[in-house]
Amino acid sequence: MNKVIILDFGSQYTQLIARKIRELGVYSEIWPFNLTPERIKTLNPQAIILSGGPGSVYERNAPLLGRSIFKLGIPILGICYGLQIMAHLLGGKVTPSAKREYGFARLKPLWKEGLLQGIKAGGEVWMSHGDKVVEPPPGFIISGETENSELAVIESRERKLFGVQFHPEVIHTREGKKVLSNFLFTLAGLKPEWNMESFVERKVEEIRERVRGKRIFCGLSGGVDSLVASLIVKKAVGDNLSCIFVDNGLLRKGQFEELMKKFKKKLSLKVIGVDASQLFLRRLKGIVSPERKRKLIGELFIRIFEKEAEKIGNVEFLVQGTIYPDVIESISVKGPSARIKSHHNVGGLPRKHKFKIIEPLRELFKDEVRQIAAELGVDKEFIAQHPFPGPGLAVRILGEVTPKRVELLREADDILLQEIKRAGLYPSLWQAFPVLLPVKSVGVMGDRRTYESVVVVRLVRSVDGMTADWYPASARLLRRISSRIVNEIKGVNRVVYDITTKPPATIEWE
Ligand code: XMP
Repeated sequence: MNKVIILDFGSQYTQLIARKIRELGVYSEIWPFNLTPERIKTLNPQAIILSGGPGSVYERNAPLLGRSIFKLGIPILGICYGLQIMAHLLGGKVTPSAKREYGFARLKPLWKEGLLQGIKAGGEVWMSHGDKVVEPPPGFIISGETENSELAVIESRERKLFGVQFHPEVIHTREGKKVLSNFLFTLAGLKPEWNMESFVERKVEEIRERVRGKRIFCGLSGGVDSLVASLIVKKAVGDNLSCIFVDNGLLRKGQFEELMKKFKKKLSLKVIGVDASQLFLRRLKGIVSPERKRKLIGELFIRIFEKEAEKIGNVEFLVQGTIYPDVIESISVKGPSARIKSHHNVGGLPRKHKFKIIEPLRELFKDEVRQIAAELGVDKEFIAQHPFPGPGLAVRILGEVTPKRVELLREADDILLQEIKRAGLYPSLWQAFPVLLPVKSVGVMGDRRTYESVVVVRLVRSVDGMTADWYPASARLLRRISSRIVNEIKGVNRVVYDITTKPPATIEWE
């Protein structure tokens, strides 16, 4: 299968590059910029993309590459900072600039047989850069310019090296997809072979090959990812798969019972239901650090899985519904995407456990998982449900997780979701949830002073959970939510609305 690797120099658009390439039917992976040429060779990509990034090639600790990458004979496209590095390392000239060029520019193609084949003159392209290339490296031609960047596109067809100053991956660059497809198909000679059906077939084969008749266990979280992962594994190994769904006492109201029914009746999965709510709540006592909560919950899950697996016998593998954004955000790579939090699917697992891990969705984005879910017969309502974190309500209860506080938040969650659904908003939001703060504030109710908890309402829109925007809810809706929460839940006297995007905040509060 054709594969493109994207070396990440820290651009906010790196994810988008990967998405655009997949939409064009080519499998792509993001790696940190400092991958060695040896490692690149073992990954065997048919093309490489150097992402943009906030750095300047002149900075002291600028993320740089070894020149040898350009000798591998693999076609390379540099985007923005990626172009500047290529020019800088191959003998061209980049000038530092204090002023950023940010926004639209009009592209004038100068040579229309390479990267800019079929691109119209004067089309809008999106710029976001400080430094710029002012002299191409020897052997390169200038094939496109804008008013501010005389070297907006450079290329060396013989060496299969190409660079663009603008961002072809963002929607504002009108013909950006065409530029990427020129690079992938015409210049690098790839074929569009990646689609969800072929992905599932390949995974089924891989899993069959790997597990060879051994028994497999899958921890269901109640979300779509772990369900799709287990349905793929079921396709591969049939009855050798057993699923487990643990009630950790941190689920939504009625979620455990409802889901058990669905797994068994509608999807005919073999599911063991374990009520471990007392255990989780007991062990969470006194813990306030978000990372300690996440780690502890991950640890408890695994120990329960081990215990249940022992009862079945001969279980060697554990399936996890880890998806690509979890991998990127959770694993501390030496690249610019630093570790943010331990998603329990990835970083929260204890180092030592008895299982070999199978993660069939590790390369996929959420909407790709949803696409597969539909193909595997999961109902629309389930697919459209909002993501729910593995550690459940625990990461929405700031401070100590006590049974009383869980109960309070569970009620608030129920009210909030009722109101969001009533307003017809549920499908257009990525998530809607309340958060319980570890502070109290003064209020007045029926002429009496109160001193009670604060609940935050968080409504966000997002495409893949990597970035998110808060939802500008109507005053009417917010008023309804606030008054229901305060009136119906004992112990809450104040509701506040979270108006922070991700970044700089994250979606969950812990
Ligand atoms: P953050 O809070 O990192 O969340 O902006 C991004 C998305 O991931 C979900 N999330 C998790 N999902 N296990 C999961 O399966 C986890 O530990 C976890 N933590 C966060 C979060 O709900 C949001 O949709």
